[in-house]
Amino acid sequence: MCGIVGYMGNHDAMPVIMSGLKMLEYRGYDSAGICTIDAGAVEIRRSSGKLINLEQLIKDKPLSGTIGIGHTRWATHGKPTVANAHPHKGGGVVIVHNGIIENYLTLKDELITKGHEFTSETDSEVVSHLIDEHLKTSESLEEAVQQALKHLKGAYALCILSQKDDKTLIAAKLGSPMVIGIKGDEYFVASDMPAIISHTREIVVMEDGEMAIFRNGGVKFCTTDGSEITKASRFVDWSPLKAEKNGYPNFMLKEINEQPQAVRNVIAGRLLEEIGDVYLEGMNADDSKLNTFERICLVACGTSWHAALVGKYLIEEQCRIPVDVEIASEFRYRDPLVSAKTLVIPVSQSGETADTLAALREARGKDAYIVSICNVVDSSIARESDGVIYTHAGLEIGVASTKAFVTQLVALYLLTIRLGRANGTIDLAKGQQMIVALGELPELVKKTLELDPQIEEIACEYLTSCDAIYLGRGISYPIALEGALKLKEISYIHADGYPAGEMKHGPIALIDRDMPVFVLAPNDRHLVKVRSNMEEVITRGGKVIALCSEGDSETGRRANFTLTVPWAGELLNPVLYSVALQLLAYNFAILKGKNVDQPRNLAKSVTVE
Ligand code: M6R
Repeated sequence: MCGIVGYMGNHDAMPVIMSGLKMLEYRGYDSAGICTIDAGAVEIRRSSGKLINLEQLIKDKPLSGTIGIGHTRWATHGKPTVANAHPHKGGGVVIVHNGIIENYLTLKDELITKGHEFTSETDSEVVSHLIDEHLKTSESLEEAVQQALKHLKGAYALCILSQKDDKTLIAAKLGSPMVIGIKGDEYFVASDMPAIISHTREIVVMEDGEMAIFRNGGVKFCTTDGSEITKASRFVDWSPLKAEKNGYPNFMLKEINEQPQAVRNVIAGRLLEEIGDVYLEGMNADDSKLNTFERICLVACGTSWHAALVGKYLIEEQCRIPVDVEIASEFRYRDPLVSAKTLVIPVSQSGETADTLAALREARGKDAYIVSICNVVDSSIARESDGVIYTHAGLEIGVASTKAFVTQLVALYLLTIRLGRANGTIDLAKGQQMIVALGELPELVKKTLELDPQIEEIACEYLTSCDAIYLGRGISYPIALEGALKLKEISYIHADGYPAGEMKHGPIALIDRDMPVFVLAPNDRHLVKVRSNMEEVITRGGKVIALCSEGDSETGRRANFTLTVPWAGELLNPVLYSVALQLLAYNFAILKGKNVDQPRNLAKSVTVE
């Protein structure tokens, strides 16, 4: 994973690189580093932990020069120590790397026999030594890089500097994202646009197997095997959103509270109440196209996968189209049954998740039609899809997804209306009714947020628990999974979600008086069964916290705690239950003193396999 930045121009490289890294911290924050070259002198600063540590180090020991590279790391190979932080230096070659070099051990052994000394446990360091080795027999840094890249297996986005050729910056890409910004004779390289577009809107998107060589105020593009190519730049017209806490103690709470507005944004301009339909502007598929699909396949990871599971309930039940939900990291390794008659829907907040992107490409190779559900505009997944439904959640900084998830649920609901109207399974009246329900949702989300004081009370009561169970049935089951994931991610309390009816087949063995069981019990068609499952827990001494619907005074009577959640209708209740469970996880984490915005070991965008 990680974020990389490179700069060559006529200004000080250090502030440009540091501000770029700040914008890429969502890609990893285990350690960070920067290198500049000034009059042939290579200066490197690295520190473990968050970027703020590197900022401090640079304050004490500033660096100069108008050419440089930087890195923010999410550790894969080697602990998040200073020694493993990028940039890595092999001989006179310095690199930053995003991706994984799969054959690094073999290469490392070979290089050691040639006298190279390694100082880190990373896979990345091997790249600097390999280029350095090839420099011995090459006429230029460019040639040495091309020779070295031939030996690499895996994925990379690389920025490369050399002490010998201190006026050249080289960038190369295979499998990891890279964009280049151009502003006259200044050049910016980064893993993602937000690191660049405060400097320039002229962007070149790099493709796999391409390189850029920046030298003497100019740039040359070529393939990694040396053939020169022309790359067109394009103007990016969106603005980098500012990450402001607006008075909240952290981004997560701000983003949880932004959800009424986020829901308004995802539906804005899309509801056509009169005709009981929705307008999904970027979908690029009319009714006749939509009716050619025999199956739908939703692919996603983590929280987005939970949204996709809700999508299955919605689409299968309302539109009667078979839906498979695939974990993206599994999808491409099992020759999935996908054809031109399959609508593949990658669901991703970032639009950069490597597994989801790889699944998209696998589906593309099998001629599927691809419509993604993304939050980040112009992200790789959005760009590579035939159509896109943007969720318009706005910038999400908190690593634990909240408003992005809720807007994914709403986007899937919108898609359900569209598919159902296209194939006739949703008639005018039903379409209108679904749209009316949607219009009421923002206010209900707001009302759910008002449950916070009661939720805090629950968190206080069960704060010492080491484990928790979340139960739900039907469309609430994926929300139980998401509730459990949220708790794990930010409070580090072990939690699992189960379909309530599945408890008796094993997990019930975990129930004792120390086990809090959060039961999602909306007043829908599953309630009677859910009540029985609750009783099974109570009988065995488990502590039940029942999340019931407004007007239901019966279900919670035997529970240890009842939380009354507003009613949005069976298909939209998942949105409200998600909000309640986000607040629950949040309160647990805050009471435990955890950093909710940047939980340990996680990154906002997972760009490695
Ligand atoms: O950006 P994506 O939606 O593709 O990310 C997928 C997962 O990595 C992400 O949802 C992850 O599970 C979050 N940390 C959830 O809070």
